[in-house]
Amino acid sequence: MAISAGRPTEQQGPSNPLVAGLERLPVAPTTLVIFGATGDLARRKLLPALYNLAHEGALPERFHLVGIARKEKAHEDYRAECEEAILQFSRRKPDDDVLAALLANVKYIPGTFDDAAVYSSLGDQLQEFDQDSGEPLNRAFYLSTAPEFFPLIIDRLGTGGLAHHERAKVRLIIEKPFGTSLQEARELNRKVLGIFDETQVFRIDHYLGKETVQNMMAFRFANGMFEPLWNRNYIESVQITAAEDIGIGTRAGYYDKAGALRDLIQNHMLQLLCHVAMEPPVSFTAEEVRNEKVKVLQAVPHPTPAQVPNISVHAQYTSGHAGGEDVPGYKEEEGVAHDSTTETYAALRLEVDNWRWAGVPFYLRTGKRLARKVTEIAVTLKPVPHLAFSQEGSLGVQPNQLVLTLQPNEGVSLRLGAKIPGTRMVIRPVNMEFLYGTAFLSQSPEAYERLITDAMRGDATLFTRNDEVEAQWLICDPILKEWEQSTDGLPTYEAGSQGPPEADRLMRVGDHWRAI
Ligand code: BG6
Repeated sequence: MAISAGRPTEQQGPSNPLVAGLERLPVAPTTLVIFGATGDLARRKLLPALYNLAHEGALPERFHLVGIARKEKAHEDYRAECEEAILQFSRRKPDDDVLAALLANVKYIPGTFDDAAVYSSLGDQLQEFDQDSGEPLNRAFYLSTAPEFFPLIIDRLGTGGLAHHERAKVRLIIEKPFGTSLQEARELNRKVLGIFDETQVFRIDHYLGKETVQNMMAFRFANGMFEPLWNRNYIESVQITAAEDIGIGTRAGYYDKAGALRDLIQNHMLQLLCHVAMEPPVSFTAEEVRNEKVKVLQAVPHPTPAQVPNISVHAQYTSGHAGGEDVPGYKEEEGVAHDSTTETYAALRLEVDNWRWAGVPFYLRTGKRLARKVTEIAVTLKPVPHLAFSQEGSLGVQPNQLVLTLQPNEGVSLRLGAKIPGTRMVIRPVNMEFLYGTAFLSQSPEAYERLITDAMRGDATLFTRNDEVEAQWLICDPILKEWEQSTDGLPTYEAGSQGPPEADRLMRVGDHWRAI
């Protein structure tokens, strides 16, 4: 069944010459199978992303969606749920015709993930699509379930004979978290690679699908002026922040077992660090880009138990005022144990011990219920070696700082020193700004739109490779182990604040955290 070519959009139409040249990359006919099809991620992110791809005509001409989840329900009922999710969460108002065409290609298979009957129904369904179209369609299996089901589903896909096809591409998309420890990640990799080939596997880190994260590569490698400065000789420190004002919502079951380090640092923030620190890849192919990122991760020393307290701080929020309302403390959140010691804030000082970066601190921090939502990378340059006009009472000279803001207000800002007009040499910092939205006058696609298309096209550049995930765990595992064993009390911070004051002790002399 063919799906409508979509509506002309700001990205396709001639109306915005600033985004000209963005022709669609072809995607071969595909059936996308979502395991966990009624879950939060599917409703909030995957289905709206599919709608927006359909709207832009970016789905393959032949596209089917099969949802699999536990509850018994008819195809029609699942379609109605998809429609509701798309209406609620799509970034653009759905067009009736495009939505109807997308939903017409949706099927539902009920059952538990251990039930062999689910996989034989799936096999039959896939075959029916193949027969209808006269050729086998590619298959993409999206694991959007709770992580404990990943090994089971992978096993059953293998035993059900669905992991490979002689004449079509079969791909496996795995949501995060990829394990909760190094050991689990290794076991999961072994399981996955016992059945699938690495070229079939797409491990999601949705930060890699964000436009602004990809723009970091453009920023570094498409501009000649920054790269000569991009090293220990000119850079004093790098500070990466992923602050959120939200709490944990209804995710206590997951979050209380995970905590901030597993939830955001092990994956998203280490990826951001890789983008700052990596060497220019020879080409932008999946293997070259990922080789360079792995080299960065391998250069980050794994902390010894004695070093952990010096390079890390973790804390938990207490009640306060955040996001415009009075909010409870973490321990009072629904579903959280009253004596929980899970961290909702984590900060680290890491180093990338290689020729380019030796000695430069990389400060990372993330937390829930902080003052506001902001994700940014601040690169502070070394101060000028000599201030010639200091005897004239020059004031306010600060080192240059380059801030890449990933969200909100995506853009780049460069702090420069400028003379305040007047008779004295008084200097103050001013900012030179580039704002993504204003420069291109277009709305950025959601990360999942890009990632789903890339996985269907078989381009793994924006997905984490097996050795990359394990290298990320190698950095985090010793910290988690030490935190678990520590008998020091867990520091707290008030909801809506800048985080725990204890985080200041990670800073080297002269460095300080930027205001959130
Ligand atoms: C997810 C985490 O991976 O990323 C969430 O599990 C977090 O806890 C989210 O809120 C943040 O993503 P974004 O795109 O809003 O920065």
